[in-house]
Amino acid sequence: MRLVVLGAAGGIGQPLSLLLKTRLPPGFELALYDLAPVTPGVAVDLSHIPTDVLVEGYAGEDPTPALRGADVVIIPAGVARKPGMDRSDLFKFNAGVIKNLVRHCAQVCPDAMLAIITNPVNSIIPIAAEVLQQAGVYNPRKLFGITTLDVLRAETFVARAMKCRAGSLTVPVIGGHSGTTILPLFSQVVGQHFSHDELLEMTRHVQNAGTDVVNAKAGGGSATLAMAQAGLRFCMSLVHARQGEPGIVEYAYVEGGSPHARFFAQAVRLGVNGIEEVMDYGTLSALEQDELTSMLPTLREEIELGVKFVQQG
Ligand SMILES: NC(=O)c1ccc[n+]([C@@H]2O[C@H](COP(=O)([O-])OP(=O)(O)OC[C@H]3O[C@@H](n4cnc5c(N)ncnc54)[C@H](O)[C@@H]3O)[C@@H](O)[C@H]2O)c1
Repeated sequence: MRLVVLGAAGGIGQPLSLLLKTRLPPGFELALYDLAPVTPGVAVDLSHIPTDVLVEGYAGEDPTPALRGADVVIIPAGVARKPGMDRSDLFKFNAGVIKNLVRHCAQVCPDAMLAIITNPVNSIIPIAAEVLQQAGVYNPRKLFGITTLDVLRAETFVARAMKCRAGSLTVPVIGGHSGTTILPLFSQVVGQHFSHDELLEMTRHVQNAGTDVVNAKAGGGSATLAMAQAGLRFCMSLVHARQGEPGIVEYAYVEGGSPHARFFAQAVRLGVNGIEEVMDYGTLSALEQDELTSMLPTLREEIELGVKFVQQG
């Protein structure tokens, strides 16, 4: 199986590639591509780690050689936030980056699964869908916006608050991947007895966690290391599902299966050919229902922004 990372020399791309090199099964190929000339060197560097994963590196304007034969393409290419910016400020630059890269994917590896990290995810995934649709190769079961970091954050914060072992609790996170569109369903955590105010505070903590990292890095970028771990978790789930392992479920921002918006983050059961089932997110508390109702107009606007970007050329 061949995995390709587009944007592999960046703050997320490098640690994600390192994790993939150490965790992918023997015999896998890992192709790294980035505009940055350092990329072949990143591949040489990783190739010295003793695992049976073949690493190749490509730099320059054309991702084609990296994409040939790809089964899974992971995309963290684009610019990241600086203090004072929100994710929508990235649209102007990253929309064009994704349009171009996904066009190449449509030509070179139309059957590959595409997992996109680049922000603003809420608008970027619709761009990818429209580009694939125009190329006549769109399969909604194979296009994912990666929202796993929101799940990791929610699980970390709730485990801390409940004084449980880190990683021992699961939290559904639905909606989208910007501000209030990120909706963690803490009411579904087994054994939780939080007050309304505590639930609201934890919800805001998850929604603002990306901005907390941007501010703490003081102009040096946004979340990269936890995002690499989140990307690894999502990619390994795609890989295991593709290898035929049953019952693999992850949260992702996908098209289909939601009455609320064309694209929506929710749990998906993964199989050999991508999404097998978009799963129901269960019952919402009154607080969660209010949060959902008030964020939906924002989510729909952000989706429309992406769709129009491609449709209006
Ligand atoms: N989905 C999430 O949860 C999540 C979390 C954190 C960051 N992000 C997003 O991920 C993206 C990457 O973040 P980062 O910290 O790695 O940024 P970065 O600036 O460190 O790295 C981005 C890389 O993309 C490369 N690049 C830019 N345009 C390219 C193109 N056309 N083709 C190939 N490569 C190109 C750059 O050369 C750079 O190496 C940002 O948009 C950021 O907002 C998403």
